[in-house]
Amino acid sequence: MKKISLTGIKPTGIPHIGNYIGAIKPALQLSESCESRYFIADYHALNSCKNPDEIRSMTREIAAAWLAGGLDPDQVLFYKQSGVPETFELLTILLAFTPKGLMNRAHAYKAMLQSNQSAGKDPDDGVNMGLFTYPVLMAADILLFDTDLVPVGNDQFQHVEMAVDIAESFNFIYQTDALKLPEAIAQPHTKTLLGLDGRKMSKSYGNTIPIFSSEKELRKLVMKIVTNSQGIEEPKDPDTCNVFSIYQAFASPDQIEALRQRYLAGGMGWGHAKQELFEVMNEALTPIRNRYQELMQDPGYIDRVLAEGSHKAREIASAKISQLRQIVGID
Ligand code: TRP
Repeated sequence: MKKISLTGIKPTGIPHIGNYIGAIKPALQLSESCESRYFIADYHALNSCKNPDEIRSMTREIAAAWLAGGLDPDQVLFYKQSGVPETFELLTILLAFTPKGLMNRAHAYKAMLQSNQSAGKDPDDGVNMGLFTYPVLMAADILLFDTDLVPVGNDQFQHVEMAVDIAESFNFIYQTDALKLPEAIAQPHTKTLLGLDGRKMSKSYGNTIPIFSSEKELRKLVMKIVTNSQGIEEPKDPDTCNVFSIYQAFASPDQIEALRQRYLAGGMGWGHAKQELFEVMNEALTPIRNRYQELMQDPGYIDRVLAEGSHKAREIASAKISQLRQIVGID
């Protein structure tokens, strides 16, 4: 029996190559050995985004990004959270098993309280109940599908642990194993991708390279990567170099070794290193960029893929909900 992997994708903005290397690629690799269920977490986005056009367009864009990045909807169950209303029934069930104190301890919520407090505001300023109960909705997403593995970033580990806590409480009260206990798994790429300025690539630092940059933009961004002031002739250290670090995420092992030797030998300037980086990136990203553009010209296709996926996901979900209804005595 294959393990079931599941992850939720928040529809927030067009992904950058850090997302591609850190989330999309590893999740797709995992889908080769697992039965995978990946979905767009559109109701999660509602907590922070109240612009209907934005929710609609971001959902399509992020779906197109994953499809362009290689997600095959015949291999991976690909759906929208909102297309599986059983999620929200399970949310209601789980809320009855979730201590309020558990939510008080959520890092994301605590961070909001902190920043309100330091700004001299009411601690709960701008915190809606959707944000406060976010981990319970996430638990519903996960537990509805008998998930074994949840590939997520470190910032989401606590949420998956909360899903385990909630499931254990349910299973204990009814002396059942109806809710499978999930496990968060870190992305296999242990090194986080560095951004243009050498810090972790992140939208909040404004140091990203968008996946779908045109060839021209891509070249411009690569040339902007910060390096040190060593001259051409000096030997260079690949392991502390920003350019090399990104190169490793895109090049083959042979290419990586060859460039490492050129760094160590000296005689190669930063301009050359950046040109090498641009070439491997452009080669890897061109087909993805083209496919993304094709998909965005056919939004009907994206909608159909998600609708079909949601239909299949509902079949699994409704069987689970019937089982749980019976256990709790609401049948
Ligand atoms: N909270 C996740 C994030 O911010 C997205 C998400 C929602 C998710 N539901 C999930 C991830 C279920 C894994 C499993 O990225």
